[in-house]
Amino acid sequence: MSGLSQRHLIAIKDLEKSDIQLIFDTAKNFKEVLQRPIKKVPSLRDITIANLFFEDSTRTRISFELAEKRLSADTINFSASGSSVKKGETLLDTVNNILAMKVDMVVMRHSSSGAPQFLSKHIPAQIINAGDGTHEHPTQGLLDGYSVLEQFGSLKGLNYLIIGDIKHSRVAGSDIPLMLKMGAKVKVCGPPTLIPKYIEELGVSYEPNLKKALEWCDVANVLRIQLERMDTKFIPSLREYSLYYGVNRALLDSINKNITIMHPGPINRGVELDSDVADSKQSLILQQVENGVAIRMAVLYLLAGRV
Ligand code: CP
Repeated sequence: MSGLSQRHLIAIKDLEKSDIQLIFDTAKNFKEVLQRPIKKVPSLRDITIANLFFEDSTRTRISFELAEKRLSADTINFSASGSSVKKGETLLDTVNNILAMKVDMVVMRHSSSGAPQFLSKHIPAQIINAGDGTHEHPTQGLLDGYSVLEQFGSLKGLNYLIIGDIKHSRVAGSDIPLMLKMGAKVKVCGPPTLIPKYIEELGVSYEPNLKKALEWCDVANVLRIQLERMDTKFIPSLREYSLYYGVNRALLDSINKNITIMHPGPINRGVELDSDVADSKQSLILQQVENGVAIRMAVLYLLAGRV
């Protein structure tokens, strides 16, 4: 296949394995471009991209903006705070007004699961999901997969553990299908109240004991407790969560294995992950952020070829 099978990037579960491989191969080329003194290519010179962030973001927003600039696209940036959304404007009206200014692609983050899919059915522009509610965060899944691939050379047969608030995590929502499609084995660990009931139907196993789960894995992706998505109490306290599910140096030193540690950010240091692990040589966290730019360049470039 010469291009992507999809016109939009809404979810990893929509992608073929060959799509993911193509994105990884293209990102590798763009990573080389990013090492050059002149880090810019003219690939998207005639394309206008709107970055619509209806929910807070640091990494994803900056990473998309930088990826677009490196590809020479024209960009406009919108955040819901300070916009007419506060005056009651609907999502569709907001986006249609922006599209009236002749926008080709929309990168969107929204707190409602399904918002990018809804838009893709109502507007002509191509949509890239930058994280929707508790559903998916596909470019995070891609950059996580690419970072592990760089480290291990292959994802096939790798033991990939995701620790924490799986129930509310769009990162888990994208990492799980990506890792499974690429041949890794996936396990989750966390309090039973934060594990979806259907997890085993996805082909993912559950281990409630953190030490046993860590002994099994090659890579552990540590997630934040997403209090902003909880309408009820799922854990007694953050202190208790940290005691049973926090990843710390003493715990890792008690395991006779050099595990690679990942985190999508933002980190709540001292809750799910201690600083002496997050900032150690075992950590892939800043490589994840670096790879995010090349992955997003690859996604934008490949989707632009599908207009
Ligand atoms: N990983 C991630 O999505 O971070 P931001 O919320 O800062 O974009």
